[in-house]
Amino acid sequence: MNYFNYQGNKLHCEEVPVETIAAEVGTPFYLYSASTIERHYRVFEEAFAGVNHLICFSVKSNSNIAVLKLMATMGAGADIVSGGELYRTLKAGIKPGKTVFSGVGKKEDEIRFALDTGILMFNVESFEELETINRIAGYMNRRAPVSLRVNPDVDPRTHPYISTGMEKNKFGIPVTEAFYLYRKAAGMDNIDVIGVDCHIGSQLTSSEPFGEAVAKLMELVNVLEDDGISIRYIDVGGGLGIVYDKESPPLPSNYAETILDATGNTDRTLIFEPGRVIVGNAGILVTKVLYNKKGPTKNFVIVDAAMNDLIRPSLYDAYQEVRTVIRSDREEMVADIVGPICESTDFLARDHMLPRVHSGELLAIMSAGAYGFPMASQYNSRPRCAEVMARGDRYQIIRDRETYEDLVSGERFFKD
Ligand code: LLP
Repeated sequence: MNYFNYQGNKLHCEEVPVETIAAEVGTPFYLYSASTIERHYRVFEEAFAGVNHLICFSVKSNSNIAVLKLMATMGAGADIVSGGELYRTLKAGIKPGKTVFSGVGKKEDEIRFALDTGILMFNVESFEELETINRIAGYMNRRAPVSLRVNPDVDPRTHPYISTGMEKNKFGIPVTEAFYLYRKAAGMDNIDVIGVDCHIGSQLTSSEPFGEAVAKLMELVNVLEDDGISIRYIDVGGGLGIVYDKESPPLPSNYAETILDATGNTDRTLIFEPGRVIVGNAGILVTKVLYNKKGPTKNFVIVDAAMNDLIRPSLYDAYQEVRTVIRSDREEMVADIVGPICESTDFLARDHMLPRVHSGELLAIMSAGAYGFPMASQYNSRPRCAEVMARGDRYQIIRDRETYEDLVSGERFFKD
């Protein structure tokens, strides 16, 4: 359920006509609905109302500080994977004590930064990382709270590029080695073992893999407790999928049922790291048609957004629905919707059915609120686009469109 709807024949974001924003801001731009983000967060939160839990919004899915501020206001924590993400969460007022730090390649300065701010825990992904955190905590005279990210070897049945919990993936510590590493961690001078963690992949459309993974975590927790290593936090990661097309992912309430079945009755705190399910359907990318072009075998609609603005279709062959911002009865056609970038991978949709469109017309690429802007680049020296947030009948620019000066800022000539 989201607040992008046609009122009359005009697509609105909440109460604001999308064309009104386009007239002021220009195109392309991302547009987020604050009420949709809040609604998705609350539905997820309510699914776990009966148990101790903490929702750590996965910052990588949408890291604009205005989005993070909404999270802070609702009491969310954060799942971060870099010092830059930590910086953003602090700017937005998310409490470091509600922040977990994941990722296979934490750098020393990032570990220091996280220890300094007092994050809730590091989700540690290797023995060498554990040793590094122990050493840095030692010379900072701190204790580092950790959980180990376990790789449960479960197939999440999603796109291979976004599967993370299988043996062949770089993530986590094999579940078979985790016990041994926990013992090592528990014996380290500056480490406090407080949790277990896993994250098996993204855009999962069935509950079973989550259930399987959490069951494996719980087996490990029991073995650890028998060994005198007590676990307070069970972090099950993110990954719940959304509807882009015809998928039917579990509702948060069904997802909760599966997770709680697997954890059984526990007074430990469950941690969740959702990203896409909160913001994915709360954002669109608005673009303008530049040209229609009829090839010998295909129709091309050339628009002013491109793979540098939204890379998901090119990178994962992902489907994003395309709608016209003004709805009318028109003949339909099948076309590729492509950008100006000089690569054949530059498409936003392929063989997409849409009404015949004309130059200057606005299109909305739906479900673009997660992994849209954060993955944008300046490829082909295209300034990154603006981001706008709407609530009710108001909207504000939450990130300026970049300028040509921005493109070269920080660059300098080599001095002979
Ligand atoms: N926790 C960890 C450790 C993660 O690596 C991720 C996502 C999440 C949580 C959040 O997962 P979500 O709830 O959003 O599925 N760029 C890709 C998705 C990459 C996901 C990376 N990790 C895409 O556009 O589909």
